[in-house]
Amino acid sequence: MRKTLLMLSIMLGLFGLSVTAQTPSTNPAPVQVVYANLNQLMRGVLYPAANVVFAPQFESPDKVKQALDPGMATDPLTSTFGGWQAVENASLALAESANLLMIPGRVCSNGVPAPINDPDWTKFVQEVRDAAMQAYKLAQAKDQDKISEQSDAVSKSCEHCHNKWRNRKSAANRCK
Ligand code: HEC
Repeated sequence: MRKTLLMLSIMLGLFGLSVTAQTPSTNPAPVQVVYANLNQLMRGVLYPAANVVFAPQFESPDKVKQALDPGMATDPLTSTFGGWQAVENASLALAESANLLMIPGRVCSNGVPAPINDPDWTKFVQEVRDAAMQAYKLAQAKDQDKISEQSDAVSKSCEHCHNKWRNRKSAANRCK
């Protein structure tokens, strides 16, 4: 009885192998999928992360009181992964968000494609990466003074792109 089962599973195994070998998947899962328009990405990912990176300007992260239930905290600074670690993680989230800003297929809230192929776009995105990774190092070093100064570089990296593509009288003209 056991032998038969063993034989059967070996045969199925071989069969399975040969089937996979002969019919390569024609419909692989997409590697990158865009879900949010640019405004939603800004509001959902960049803005909340940047505010955590800016927080040491106002209070030392290790002085921030943990939430009563840190596991359920909505403010990263008061959460289980709070204090300086929250600033480290938010810096990394910002640096990672630069990758999201380069995914093809994203549109702005007015339907205009995000100008990801414009050299200035790439330059401004690189500014976010650099400023965020510098902030990450300063958060690791728990250097409140230097990371407070670095806030300026982070916010300038946002501003440069906003000046070119966001700050228009009418939202219909954004991203053009
Ligand atoms: C490479 C360009 C670029 C960079 C870098 C960038 N933004 Fe934006 N951002 C935009 C554009 C363009 C819009 C308007 C998008 C739209 O209307 O769909 C926008 C919109 C926003 C909004 C929403 C504003 C509104 O009207 O509701 C916020 C908040 C925001 N950005 C925050 C940030 C922060 C914080 C950073 C830096 C950490 C940043 N952005 C970096 C291009 C950029």
